[in-house]
Amino acid sequence: LASIEVDVSAIQPGQAIKTIFRKQPLFVRHLTPAEIQAANAVSTGELRDPQTLAERTQEGKAEWLVTMGVCTHLGCVPLGAAEGENKGAFGGYFCPCHGSHYDTAGRIRKGPAPKNLEVPAYKFASDTVITVG
Ligand code: FES
Repeated sequence: LASIEVDVSAIQPGQAIKTIFRKQPLFVRHLTPAEIQAANAVSTGELRDPQTLAERTQEGKAEWLVTMGVCTHLGCVPLGAAEGENKGAFGGYFCPCHGSHYDTAGRIRKGPAPKNLEVPAYKFASDTVITVG
């Protein structure tokens, strides 16, 4: 299966983009220091699908959150990657189909989705380009 390259150089802190990876939506989000702090402030014991931000990002690159844009409930595309979209009650992504709220680490926090947004295999090809897949 093909991998893709994503140039992240134009994504400002607080912004996210939506692209396509293997025919599915992929979100790349540049977290602000406050968003990183919010994610790290949560104890994993409170989480339905316990994972830390560090487990969901690459070492030294906690500001880059790369996830599939596919709700783990029934597969709708959550909102929150485009300017002005509803990021939900936890500042990450919001799935309008049945009301799943994801936090700034893409973890499920409220609503019917059972799992965090999936983090695909990826690596940094350079400081500004990631290779997904
Ligand atoms: Fe997202 Fe149901 S598909 S909440």
